Amino acid sequence: MNILLLGSGGREHALAWKMAQSDHCQALFIAPGNAGTKLCGTNVTLDIKDFPAVQTFCEERSIDLLVVGPEEPLVLGIQDYFSKNTNIKVVGPSAEGAQLEGSKAYAKEFMQRHQIPTAGYREFNANSLEEGLQYIATISGPVVLKADGIAAGKGVVILEDTQAAQKELTEMLQGKFGQASNKVIIEEFLDGIEFSVFAITDGKDYQLLPIAKDYKRIGEGDVGLNTGGMGAISPVPFVDDTLMQKVIDRIVTPTIQGLNKENLDYKGFVFFGLIKVDDDPYVIEYNCRMGDPETEVVIPRLQSDLVSLLASLFDGQLSKQKVDINPDYATTVMMVSGGYPEAYEKGKTMSGMDNTSDSLLYYAGAQEDATGNIVTSGGRVLAITSLAADMQGALDRSYQNAEKVQFDKKHYRKDIGFDLK
Ligand code: AMP
Ligand code: GLY
Repeated sequence: MNILLLGSGGREHALAWKMAQSDHCQALFIAPGNAGTKLCGTNVTLDIKDFPAVQTFCEERSIDLLVVGPEEPLVLGIQDYFSKNTNIKVVGPSAEGAQLEGSKAYAKEFMQRHQIPTAGYREFNANSLEEGLQYIATISGPVVLKADGIAAGKGVVILEDTQAAQKELTEMLQGKFGQASNKVIIEEFLDGIEFSVFAITDGKDYQLLPIAKDYKRIGEGDVGLNTGGMGAISPVPFVDDTLMQKVIDRIVTPTIQGLNKENLDYKGFVFFGLIKVDDDPYVIEYNCRMGDPETEVVIPRLQSDLVSLLASLFDGQLSKQKVDINPDYATTVMMVSGGYPEAYEKGKTMSGMDNTSDSLLYYAGAQEDATGNIVTSGGRVLAITSLAADMQGALDRSYQNAEKVQFDKKHYRKDIGFDLK
C-alpha cells in the first residue's frame, strides 16, 4: 500500500516508524513531516488544510491510505472531502464524527444520549450570560469553564474564585477565544486522577490499544501552564482489570455503539481522556485522533502490524485482527525548548543523538537544515521513549539519554511518572 501520513509531531514520527516496519507498506510519505519522519519515508511539503493540494499529491503518487495525525484537518472535513472526490481510504472520522473533539457541547450531548458517565454541565452563550453568572454564584468549589470549540489547547480554565470565574465567563463569551468561545460549557469539577484509553474503530467494531497517562503541565509536580504534553507512561499501574472493565462497559462500548446508532462515518482513532473518581471512570474529553506524546508510548508497545490494523477498518475485518501488546512499560520524556509553552527560540542545533542507546528517539519540533544538521523548530522537540520490564527501569533509560542530547536552552521534566510510583 502507498500511504500518506499528515502531521509533523512526535506522534507522526512514532506512527511513521511503525508503519514503515509493515510488509504492507510500499511507499510512505509524510506531509509536512519532520527530521524523524524523514528517516521512515519521504517528507512532502504540503499544506495539510489545502484538501485539493493533498488530493493532487495522492493521485500523482497513487496513495491508497491517507492517515490523518492531528485533529484540525478532520474537524475541517478532510474525510468528507476525500470520500466525495476520491476512492482513497482515510483513517480519521468525518467532520461530524470529529465534532466529538471539535465541540465540547456536541460531545456532552452525545454522552448524555448514550448515558456515558461525565461531569454534569450547563451550556451558556452571549444571550444567557446573566444566567451563567448567577449559576457560577451557586457553585461551591472550583468552576470548570470550557470554550466549546478548539482553542489551541487553552480553552479550559479552572478557577476557585467565584468572581474570577464570572470574569472569565464574560470574557470568553465576548470572544476571548474567537468563535471557539461563542458557547461555553460550565462543568462540575471532578476530583481524581487522569488516564487515557485509545481505541481504533470502524464505527461498528473496535480494538483497544495500550492505555497511557500523560503529564500536561510544564512544572514538576504537575504545576504551571498546560503544554501539549511533557511525557507519558504506558501502561498505567492504577488501572487494574476491574477499572478497565468499567471503562469498557460504561464508556468504550457505549461510545462505539453510539457512533453506530447515529450512523456516524468514523473510521479512525478514539482517544478517551478519562478521570478516575473514587473507583469509577468518567469522560473528561474525547479526541478524534491519537494523543501526543501518548502515541510515543502506545505505539512502541503495539506488536501487531499497524498497517494491517488500519486497512481492516475498510473491509469489515477489524474484529478479526489480533492486537498483541508488549507487556513491558514504555516511558517517554519530552525535551522542550526553554520558555515553552510561552515564547521560545527556534533554530538551535541539536547534537548527541548518536550517543544515546536503548531508547527510541521520536522527533517533534525538529527539522533537518540545508547543511544536514538537525535544528529545533518547535516547542516540543524530541520524545525519548524507553521500554523495560518495570517503569523505573524505563524512566532511568529515558533520563540517561535525555542528558546526552544537547541543544541551547533544552528543558525537560525530571519527574515523569512521579504520581505512579
Ligand atoms: P480538556 O481540554 O477537556 O481535556 O481539559 C483540560 C484539562 O482540564 C484536563 O486534562 C483536566 O486536567 C482538566 N479538567 C477538564 N475538565 C475537568 C473537570 N470536569 N474536572 C476536573 N478537571 C477537569
Ligand atoms: N497529550 C494530550 C493530547 O494529545 O491531546
